[in-house]
Amino acid sequence: MAGGHRLLLENAQQVVMVCARGERFLARDALHSLAVLEGASLVVGTDGFIKAIGRADAIQTLFSEETFEERIDCSGKCILPGLVDAHTHPVWAGERVHEFAMKLAGATYMEIHQAGGGINFTVEHTRQASEEELFCSLQQRLQCMMRAGTTLVECKSGYGLNLETELKMLRVIERARRQGPIGISATYCGAHSVPKGKTATEAADEIINNHLPKLKELGSRGEIHVDNIDVFCEKGVFDLNSTRRILQSGKDLGLQINFHGDELHPMKAAELGAELGAQAISHLEEVSDEGIAAMATARSSAVLLPTTAYMLRLKQPRARKMLDEGVIVALGSDFNPNAYCLSMPMVMHLACVNMRMSMPEALAAATINAAYALGKSHTHGSLEVGKQGDLIIINSSSFGGLQSTTVWKQVSLMICQVPLSDE
Ligand code: NIG
Ligand code: FE
Repeated sequence: MAGGHRLLLENAQQVVMVCARGERFLARDALHSLAVLEGASLVVGTDGFIKAIGRADAIQTLFSEETFEERIDCSGKCILPGLVDAHTHPVWAGERVHEFAMKLAGATYMEIHQAGGGINFTVEHTRQASEEELFCSLQQRLQCMMRAGTTLVECKSGYGLNLETELKMLRVIERARRQGPIGISATYCGAHSVPKGKTATEAADEIINNHLPKLKELGSRGEIHVDNIDVFCEKGVFDLNSTRRILQSGKDLGLQINFHGDELHPMKAAELGAELGAQAISHLEEVSDEGIAAMATARSSAVLLPTTAYMLRLKQPRARKMLDEGVIVALGSDFNPNAYCLSMPMVMHLACVNMRMSMPEALAAATINAAYALGKSHTHGSLEVGKQGDLIIINSSSFGGLQSTTVWKQVSLMICQVPLSDE
């Protein structure tokens, strides 16, 4: 039966499907489950969903009577799922170059933070910036991410701390989400730092009693859409008790828990996250063995951030142990003024070299597992019939070209995001 389709990608050297198993994918199984089709083609329908994937000759026979709005010859190239960046702070003003010099001279991240720099410095500048200025810089950053292959990205607020600026940041994120084409998962991170003059308990009270009800009101009016709630659970920032109260209140509003934990000090954040049913916990350089086991059981994913461990000279998160224990390991760039990385291929490269992940594991962590961390693995993160036509074509004959050569030579790539239609 003849019919029309949006896109035919034909004759790819490799189509790397990164098969999801149900809703999730353990990167541990990546070597066995990474389905790589050689000499294959892929069809996306006019509704924006993948219709078929298979050997090029089989697809040609099956669709011989049908028409395509666009055909792309992918000979010698690889088709991969669009990359998913599971942790970023992309809305801010004010450079922190001077802090790099301080760090090189021996200052730690927390010493700078406690002296009023770090996040607090960025808060001052972000409060002063106009909404338009923040939107323009966000757009530029998102475009750079897309040029490096990211098609879905988590975006946090958290450089406002007060309600006014947190809402300004969330409006900016909402505007970018509506504008597209990059997919956005929005995170309220009002507990990124304790505002000057307040205790953590007072800041938590303010968030629970004032910020969260306002988010609920704006959400029900369709003005902003927030997916996740985040807290920086760290010694000298939000302790375990305040973290618990904030996360639980966010969860009660229907937000997914996705927070910073066990980064600089062991806090038992992983244990708390598992107990609360967190979708994701980020950083985890200092996670305990018990925390790893609890995350595996609770299916709380670990979002590892190789750029931060590198920039701050932290010990590496124990990716191998997490993978062996069955934790769903994802990756994020942690793009922020301290770790200025917009490239997921670079993140995968660092994960391979510094965290000893294999290339298939790093690819699964930057696609299906990162989509899982954002609660979107049913629509994103793998190439499967019925999922969104959200993919990249890389100019390399093997998917590893994306991660192995990225430091020395940016592999050129093309993004294909077919918009969803209502038909
Ligand atoms: O994930 N650790 C807390 N938040 C960010 C850093 C934010 C900043 O330094 O501006 C992170 O690394
Ligand atoms: Fe972060």
